[in-house]
Amino acid sequence: MLNKKVHELLNTQINKEFYSAYLYLDFSNYFKAKGLDGFANWYMIQAQEERDHALLFYQYLQNNNAEVTLDAIDKPKCGFADSMSVLKAGLEHEIYVTSLINDIYAAAYEVKDFRTMQFLDWFVKEQGEEETNATDLISKMELFGSDPKSLYMLNQELGTRVYAAPSLVL
Ligand code: FEO
Repeated sequence: MLNKKVHELLNTQINKEFYSAYLYLDFSNYFKAKGLDGFANWYMIQAQEERDHALLFYQYLQNNNAEVTLDAIDKPKCGFADSMSVLKAGLEHEIYVTSLINDIYAAAYEVKDFRTMQFLDWFVKEQGEEETNATDLISKMELFGSDPKSLYMLNQELGTRVYAAPSLVL
């Protein structure tokens, strides 16, 4: 049996991850409208990864005979001033998600829920990668974003990102 608080936090995380997918879908939409298809592709794949994260939390609860309760997904924040604001909102969001994962981990640690801690280990590592990716995007945009030719090349590079299913299998 999962501890009540751990259960609640894991269940809430399903919603948070679906919101992340929704947010990145909106980012993808923003770049598509600007004609930056590579950026749009990058965030579309990011949205797919977030959907996968949501399903992993969903599956984990079901595997532990814990009830899943699905809630409404918030409207993503939109109306960005420029591309850089989108990239920065992405990093800010990932830092927030890391804090949520850490909170669940801390709750599991408190009640010696080693199974949940082991499940979350993958997410701890994943969040590190996602923060790095978001930071790298900002750095590249700072370096190349103001030169049209360089922006074109960066857009091409981001267009090569392909979807891969998560390495965590439950
Ligand atoms: Fe699933 Fe980007 O956090």
